[in-house]
Amino acid sequence: MMLRFSSSIFLLLLAIVNVGFAAKIKDGLLPNGNFELGPKKSELKGTEVIGRHAIPEWEITGFVEYIESGHKQGDMLLVVPEGYYAIRLGNEASIKQRLNVTKGMYYSITFSAARTCAQEEQLNVSVTPDFGVLPMQTMYSSDGWDIYAWAFQAEFELVDLVIHNTGQEEDPACGPLIDSVAIRILYPPKMTSQNLMKNGDFEEGPYFLPNTSSGVLIPPNIEDDHSPLPGWMVESLKAVKYIDSDHFFVPQGKRAIEIVAGKESALAQTVRTIPGKTYTLTFSVGDAGNACAGSMIVEAFASRSTVKIPYESKGTGGYKRAVLKFTAEAARTRIVFFSTFYHTKTDGSLCGPVIDDVKLLSVRNPLRL
Ligand SMILES: *[C@@H]1O[C@H](CO)[C@@H](O)[C@H](O)[C@H]1NC(C)=O
Ligand SMILES: *[C@@H]1O[C@H](CO)[C@@H](O)[C@H](O)[C@H]1NC(C)=O
Ligand SMILES: *[C@@H]1O[C@H](CO)[C@@H](O)[C@H](O)[C@H]1NC(C)=O
Repeated sequence: MMLRFSSSIFLLLLAIVNVGFAAKIKDGLLPNGNFELGPKKSELKGTEVIGRHAIPEWEITGFVEYIESGHKQGDMLLVVPEGYYAIRLGNEASIKQRLNVTKGMYYSITFSAARTCAQEEQLNVSVTPDFGVLPMQTMYSSDGWDIYAWAFQAEFELVDLVIHNTGQEEDPACGPLIDSVAIRILYPPKMTSQNLMKNGDFEEGPYFLPNTSSGVLIPPNIEDDHSPLPGWMVESLKAVKYIDSDHFFVPQGKRAIEIVAGKESALAQTVRTIPGKTYTLTFSVGDAGNACAGSMIVEAFASRSTVKIPYESKGTGGYKRAVLKFTAEAARTRIVFFSTFYHTKTDGSLCGPVIDDVKLLSVRNPLRL
């Protein structure tokens, strides 16, 4: 009797715990993250969405349009990257979804966006108190759609993700298209005795939309916020591209970085070092097998040392290992990678050399060369 009673209490507790976990958001598309569920006919005026809750799972403010793939704007045909529908954020318009998260955890948001008419469009992605303003001037792909990542640390169990078009265009129907909003929990990796770099193999990072083959842009960190690529910062003006082995050639593991904007996209990490000690930085330089062909050079910097690694890309995938030896001058050393040249594919999209598998070790008995 007693046993049965306590075991049913146990089952009840288990059920409560399960429900608790089940309510948390899971890695993947957000509920109706691809906007395939749309407003009722009565909640649409042309393409304009009427009513804050007209799009299931989302709350909107301002001039938001519900766009069907194949919709014509002037003589431009709007194509949607995933499914049949996307939304467009007009001036000062935003979309919002409430997420059940775990306080203290890090999350990355992935979404696809395309700018339409204006040149200076930018999106403010936020989860209070974090926000990131993502500029959309540069088109990295050839079809207009790029996939962006952004990250936040949850300060509450329930948070509001807001994507806001900060634009003030003359034509209120101008503004970026948004599709496929997804989330992934980040587990920031630590350095180990085998590698003083954090996330040197780039295996930890934002969610890849399974049906898109264009990689995910890691935008520059303008403020000192959380990186969607844990351990790493994108310095300078332009993004780097996070690529996966499902769609690209990757030297090691499942994920790597393609440096797509020459010297304008530098990837950096600051590591702890002991002044006077000698270190070896080893890394892979290659190409993503995405028809990005040409003579490439990756430059790596650490302390006062620098190395230029040439790589002849046929665009069919491949890599070689490279080494930079340096002596630390301070307790912190910044390690930076960039591509000497710009590269583009024949379709006009930006591309470049791949780096992967970055390892840093101190040299116990440096040879005096
Ligand atoms: C989030 O949690 C609340 C209660 O804490 C629950 O009512 C709601 O259904 C959950 N939402 C999702 C999307 O799981
Ligand atoms: C971005 O949005 C957040 C949250 O609404 C706000 O606090 C912040 O000031 C906005 N930043 C810009 C530059 O618009
Ligand atoms: C990917 O595409 C397949 C086939 O078109 C579809 O069934 C699936 O739902 C899509 N997955 C996502 C995450 O959009």
